[in-house]
Amino acid sequence: MLGNRTFTMIKPDAVAKNNIGNILAMINNAGFKIIALKYTQLSREQAGTFYEVHKERPFYTELVEFMSSGPIVAAILEKNNAVADFRTLIGATDPAEAAENTIRKKYAESKGKNAVHGSDSDENAQIEGSFFFSGLERF
Ligand code: CMP
Repeated sequence: MLGNRTFTMIKPDAVAKNNIGNILAMINNAGFKIIALKYTQLSREQAGTFYEVHKERPFYTELVEFMSSGPIVAAILEKNNAVADFRTLIGATDPAEAAENTIRKKYAESKGKNAVHGSDSDENAQIEGSFFFSGLERF
C-alpha cells in the first residue's frame, strides 16, 4: 500500500475552534478514505518525539508546546498518490501563502497554528501512522 497512504493530525488550534467535522468533511470530499482515527492529547515528550526531525529548528520548542497544549485528531488516510494529494489539499505551511479552498487557507491562523499536519513522504507517512496506531486500529 506504500504510495497510497498518508498520515494527518488535526492540530489543537483547529480542534479548539470546533473544526474537526469541517476538516474531516473536506478530507472525505477530496476522496480520502479514513483507515484509522483517534482523538487524543500528546504529552510534551510524545510531541517532542513525533517532531524529532525538527529538533534543531528554532521553532521546535514552540512546536512541541503547541502540539501538546490540547487534544488533536490523528488519522491514517488512503487514496492514490496520498502524500502529494493531501499536501495539495492542506496548502502551504503558512496560511498566508496557502491556495484558495485549502484546509489551511480556510482554518489555519499562522505558520505554527496551522490547523493540520500532513506527512511529507511515503516513508514518514508510515513512521507517523505507526506512532499512533497499532495494526488492530486500522481498517
Ligand atoms: P507540520 O506539517 O506539522 O510539520 C512541522 C511543523 O512545524 C509545521 O507543520 C508548522 O506547524 C511548524 N513550523 C514550521 N515553520 C514554523 C515556524 N517558522 N514557526 C513555527 N512553527 C513552524
